[in-house]
Amino acid sequence: MTPEQQEQLVAKAREVRDNGYAPASKFLVGAAVLTDDGRVFVGCNVENASYGLTICAERGAVCAAVAAGARRVVAVAVVTGLPEPARPCGACRQVLAEFGYDMQVVLVGSGDGVVTTTLAKLLPEPFTFGDL
Ligand code: THU
Repeated sequence: MTPEQQEQLVAKAREVRDNGYAPASKFLVGAAVLTDDGRVFVGCNVENASYGLTICAERGAVCAAVAAGARRVVAVAVVTGLPEPARPCGACRQVLAEFGYDMQVVLVGSGDGVVTTTLAKLLPEPFTFGDL
């Protein structure tokens, strides 16, 4: 991912965060994924009165990418309103892993700090279809 692509990915995640639906937590999250063919797909968190049905921003973005025919994610950006960048939840790590275990992960909060890591670091020893 080029610095320009990273900047664009973060900008898209920040933009879609405004559409997050979070009446329960008031915690808005935006995510954007970059696919291997250069396309960007976005997702925001969508909460539900039946709390357990909440969909995280990262999983929304992955579903949008897959629905558009993408099968490989090379990078994901996640933006929250916390002062420091927050880490993706375990469920999202597992779903992201399905489409690019070596993907870059860019995490941003409301401050200037940017955490850049990889999914492999965030989710060591994943469960995969290879295990079945
Ligand atoms: N959330 C995400 O969208 N992504 C994560 O990785 C962690 C949590 C959302 C779910 C819920 O709407 C809110 O943040 C508080 O947990």
